[in-house]
Amino acid sequence: MERTREYTLQNRNRYLDELMKLLKIPSISADPAYSNDVKLTAELVKQSLDDAGVQTTKIYETEGHPIVYGEHIINPSLPTVLVYGHYDVQPPDPLDLWDSPPFEPVIKKTDLHPDGAIFARGSCDDKGQMFMHVKAFESMFNSNEIPCNIKFMIEGEEEVGSVHLGAFCEEYAKMLSCDVVLLSDTSIIANDVPSITVGLRGLSYVEVKVTGPNKDLHSGVYGGTVVNPINALSKMIATLHDENGKITIPGFYDRVHDLSQEEREEMEKAPFDENRYKKGLGVNELDGEKGYTPRERTSIRPTLDVNGMWGGYIGEGAKTVLPSEAFAKISMRLVPYQSHEEITELFQNYFESIAPQGVKVEVSPHHGGQPAVTPTDTKEYKAASLAMEKTFGRKPIPERGGGSIPIVSLFEKVFGVKSVLMGFGLNSDDIHSPNEHYGIFNYFRGIETIPYFYHYYATEK
Ligand code: BES
Ligand code: MN
Ligand code: MN
Repeated sequence: MERTREYTLQNRNRYLDELMKLLKIPSISADPAYSNDVKLTAELVKQSLDDAGVQTTKIYETEGHPIVYGEHIINPSLPTVLVYGHYDVQPPDPLDLWDSPPFEPVIKKTDLHPDGAIFARGSCDDKGQMFMHVKAFESMFNSNEIPCNIKFMIEGEEEVGSVHLGAFCEEYAKMLSCDVVLLSDTSIIANDVPSITVGLRGLSYVEVKVTGPNKDLHSGVYGGTVVNPINALSKMIATLHDENGKITIPGFYDRVHDLSQEEREEMEKAPFDENRYKKGLGVNELDGEKGYTPRERTSIRPTLDVNGMWGGYIGEGAKTVLPSEAFAKISMRLVPYQSHEEITELFQNYFESIAPQGVKVEVSPHHGGQPAVTPTDTKEYKAASLAMEKTFGRKPIPERGGGSIPIVSLFEKVFGVKSVLMGFGLNSDDIHSPNEHYGIFNYFRGIETIPYFYHYYATEK
């Protein structure tokens, strides 16, 4: 893999420029106004696979956004790795909180990225991390160092729940057949503390609507006599956690397994600086479920959070109005053995049951996803671990992540294979937030590490 490494070094500037070009297209999957940009991004990704030397590439249309596929078979008797990534991004809003426009990438230095980081929506999640795989392939191809068969499946709907990817995987299961799925859409603990994600949380996402009087009313003339739907919704939401930070929905924890004391102690060995964490978020206290550490609360425990809430008058100045409707979007992060369909149903039944007389409550489920865990005693985990140890000079720590990639559990179901979650971002890279960025160090460390994964995977027993 030395020639591959050398090739990357010699092409550093071009590899960076090409990522910048990809980041300029606003591939916002959630907003139909950008569907043409999503399409242009798919075409650019396909072109980049062609340019990298991938034998066969094709864009598959879906009822939503297209899927880019590529395949490079060097010898059918060798193992096959399927690379998964997504080229769609989250909406950049709120725009006024960005220091530079989200689709005009710029490089700036930060405390954690002294070599510079690229600031743009999608730089880390997931265009930057997905593109590392394209460039790693290109370096291997041009160095004649491809050790196994490689397939690419890059989708444009991850941020909206991968709605059409499941059907695509089932329909093309034969074409997509592989021995393992490799993806970089997660994080490492720090640039000098590599880690491999071995678990993802599931997700149940609901929207609720509370309706009171049949129109907005004068809050003086009617205030005090009818149930105010925003007051009611606030109260209902407030009862969803008890004084210990536990979720009060009956049955919510029924399928949650406790980790053994040993497992919990093992987890706590990974470095975590609580003061720095608080400082980075601008808070003076952390909160959450009693009896668990911050790391546990964001990985092995389920949670419930309001993601947005609105109703009544939210414009400039004061308008005295008693609103007719109130809304909230609520997400629940789930852990292994919980099922998002079941949790959504439990939520719905409970939320309707706690509605006060005088209002109507409707719960509408959005997309969801199952949690996933990946074992550490497999050939693929070992290959990833060796690859990271090779380039970081330090053995990576297995770590359960707090985010969700619903498609990972589906890969296991449809292809019967495990995934390796070898991401290179930092949790502080502000994915989904204003000023998302990705370290240049991280980008090139990824491009350098990925070829070693293939190498160890193809040669390890
Ligand atoms: N890449 C993230 C998930 C992630 C981030 C996992 C950091 C681990 C560490 C992914 O793009 C994402 O944002 N997923 C969504 C779920 C999806 C259904 C919209 C999420 O976690 O909110
Ligand atoms: Mn992602
Ligand atoms: Mn994301």
